[in-house]
Amino acid sequence: MQRSKIKEILTQKKPDDEVLVQGWVKTRRSSKSVTFVQITDGSTLQDLQIVVDETNPGHDAAATLTTGCSVSVQGVLVESPGQGQKFEIQANTLTVLGESDPDSYPLQKKRHSPEFLREIAHLRPRTNTFGAMARVRNSLAYAIHTFFQERGFQFIQTPIITASDAEGAGSMFQVTTLNLNDVPKDNGAVKHEDDFFGRPTFLTVSGQLEAEIFAMALSDVYTFGPTFRAENSNTSRHLAEFWMVEPEVAFCQLDGLSELAEDFLKRLCSHVLANCLEDMEFFNKWYDNSTISTLDSIANSQFERLTYTEAVDLLKKSSQTFEYPVDWGIDLQSEHERYLTETMIQRPVIVTDYPKDIKAFYMRLNDDGETVRAMDVLVPRIGEIIGGSQREERREILEGRMNESGISHDEYSWYLDLRSYGTVPHSGFGLGFERTVQFITGVSNIRDVIPFPRTPKSAEF
Ligand code: 4AD
Ligand code: MG
Repeated sequence: MQRSKIKEILTQKKPDDEVLVQGWVKTRRSSKSVTFVQITDGSTLQDLQIVVDETNPGHDAAATLTTGCSVSVQGVLVESPGQGQKFEIQANTLTVLGESDPDSYPLQKKRHSPEFLREIAHLRPRTNTFGAMARVRNSLAYAIHTFFQERGFQFIQTPIITASDAEGAGSMFQVTTLNLNDVPKDNGAVKHEDDFFGRPTFLTVSGQLEAEIFAMALSDVYTFGPTFRAENSNTSRHLAEFWMVEPEVAFCQLDGLSELAEDFLKRLCSHVLANCLEDMEFFNKWYDNSTISTLDSIANSQFERLTYTEAVDLLKKSSQTFEYPVDWGIDLQSEHERYLTETMIQRPVIVTDYPKDIKAFYMRLNDDGETVRAMDVLVPRIGEIIGGSQREERREILEGRMNESGISHDEYSWYLDLRSYGTVPHSGFGLGFERTVQFITGVSNIRDVIPFPRTPKSAEF
């Protein structure tokens, strides 16, 4: 007989159907004549109750089941008299597949702290929170691909090992096979020609520059993959390894890009509400009781648009005191971003036209010579969720910006070539996948929305 998942049983089966179901025990209650076992298989937040009565040959085994055991049950579906459950299974056979020592199994029925659960990242997927998180992540990944596929974007796979520092921020992990205990040197300098690739290489911080290459041939492309940053930021919104979605659009200026970003975020919000409501209700109940109403309102709101200069003016006029004082030219800190979107505007804000000195070299220079066509999307609770820009498509101006930033023309000759052979206006952005999951679920720490978080001094599992 073929195994049915609990989700399938609850949505597609009817009373008297015979089913085979397999999963892990959450709880067990036994009386003299009957044992009730709640099992889960991760296909849904809901457990399924198995009823094993004393005439069943498997009853003795059932009566000793403890949390975490794995079982295989064949039986008949009956409508459940219990509250909140549609069905239970009257077991015909119950087999224990794997035992679980109750003295050492770390997951108890009580609520565990997120810090404790991070230490047992191999078992936390079995908790309600982590199961719900994994299903929401999965559903969001699906929505990301369908959003772009429906619009005719091509999914491009950009390299993970790279020689270029796309963001020019210098926070890259180096990739090397050199023996760190005996690094080959020439007059004190590392002999990179002895390294695997014959040159210094790094884990990518962004697929953007390579995505631009493909946008200059296929027009509309996107990447969706892991990116790496060796920033020593121990905050609830930074990871050293995170996933990023990066669309790159040819023949598109900043206004078109900000519309794409707004449509995209709204679509992700409405998708999870339509497809993960049960899991979202769980987050709404246990994590942040404004989660669902926020998503609803975002799916239907109009994002505010402000220039950086307007945003700075607004912040300076506010009575709020910030840890970092606001002045034209500063990089907006998370406290400023959140105050703008949460308190002042109370919905998502798209801030554009930042000072060139605080942004990457590839952003298009405005006519004022001081600002660039950058765009950050800020949302309540998170701050920056998307960063992007119109790209500098004029070769001489790009060369000038590279000189200012100390970037070698030789190393980026391929990037400059794109501006010599059929250059076009083009724009793109990056959406932080984990920040999106954080925003959508209301889970406060980014370490709890990725299966295996990598942060400074922590790379377990
Ligand atoms: O603003 P960022 O640095 O933009 C880029 O990397 C551009 N190359 C994207 C592009 O135009 N194609 O990063 C984009 C987003 C941020 O808005 C944030 O959501 C997320 O990536 N992000 C991080 N998420 C988790 N941990 C970190 N350390 C992050 N750094 C950035
Ligand atoms: Mg940014």
